[in-house]
Amino acid sequence: MACPPGAAVAWGSRSPAVKGRQVSIALIPGSFDPVTNGHLDIVERTARKFDQVLVALATNSRKAAPLFSVEERVAMLRQVVAHLPNVRIRSFKGLLADFAVEHSVTAIVKGLRAVSDFDYELQMAQLNLRLSGVDTLFMPTAPDHSFLSATLVREVASYGGDVSSMVPPIVAQRLKERFAR
Ligand code: PNS
Repeated sequence: MACPPGAAVAWGSRSPAVKGRQVSIALIPGSFDPVTNGHLDIVERTARKFDQVLVALATNSRKAAPLFSVEERVAMLRQVVAHLPNVRIRSFKGLLADFAVEHSVTAIVKGLRAVSDFDYELQMAQLNLRLSGVDTLFMPTAPDHSFLSATLVREVASYGGDVSSMVPPIVAQRLKERFAR
């Protein structure tokens, strides 16, 4: 599915084509509060499998009181994927299924850390398939990151713990600044 060498892929055009075939677009949704090395690993691996990757930050997450604003999270995401030319960051309100249809994505991609993630993710995948017709593909998290979550990172950082091996340097810096207050 990767982009053939030298092929120009127009970003954002509806159902674009590369040499007579549809461009493959992966949608990676999340709260990214903040983006972790686990998220980044999934984005990098997905970017090698699809022509384009749309990382979509949900602004109406059910999670109360995010640590970082939507703008801060988008800015951090943009910085940490700057080395990936086929990855774009967007935020969205409302249903993921609607966003997926609006952007003509090929598939939603979700990282799975452990079996405990599976029940909820399966339910969401089936709901999103029913609502949009878009399939969800599960990608196992790299073993190095299987314990990692944004929630744990926030908690460790809030007590002054070292999260430098869990998040990109720019995120570690932002966390330090946030909890220094
Ligand atoms: O990083 P997270 O918090 O696990 O991501 C969850 C997310 C954002 C993927 C999920 O909450 C979502 O898809 N939100 C958009 C609203 C939606 O479509 N909800 C579906 C069930 S009602």
